[in-house]
Amino acid sequence: MRLSADALNRFGETIGRELAAPAVIGLSGELGTGKTTLVQAICRGLGTHDLATSPTYALVHRYRTPGGLAVYHVDCYRLRSPAEAQDLGFDDMMREAGIVLIEWPERAGPWAPPLDRHFQLSYGRDADTRELEEVR
Ligand SMILES: Nc1ncnc2c1ncn2[C@@H]1O[C@H](COP(=O)(O)OP(=O)(O)O)[C@@H](O)[C@H]1O
Ligand SMILES: [Mg+2]
Repeated sequence: MRLSADALNRFGETIGRELAAPAVIGLSGELGTGKTTLVQAICRGLGTHDLATSPTYALVHRYRTPGGLAVYHVDCYRLRSPAEAQDLGFDDMMREAGIVLIEWPERAGPWAPPLDRHFQLSYGRDADTRELEEVR
């Protein structure tokens, strides 16, 4: 579907509000297509207070919902090889049974946990729209 920035934000907030833990969500797409924007919207929907800014050096950011649920934002963009994902702590995240939001999950190869939902973002026809598809 084609989404404006507003619509993409609303979409993410709705997902966050309706998300039941444990859940793993993957977000794929070129740089600048809105993966981090969508993560931030999902976090707003979940009610986390911290803003999930794009992890620049830290590949993993950890948040908590008001209800005490752990929320992880993992950005695999800077992994030089899938094997480096072994150090990200996916096993521990899964043991916490919280919410795990993964940008570029394909870069973690077989070390990424199974995705419950997987969204693919791409550039739209003009600068302010994006195409979002659910990968099934
Ligand atoms: N329809 C849209 N949906 C999401 N982001 C948009 C849209 N239109 C413009 N943008 C802009 O595109 C950029 C997306 O950046 P970001 O979410 O960091 O992308 P990524 O994490 O995929 O690299 C933001 O600056 C955002 O304001
Ligand atoms: Mg990003």
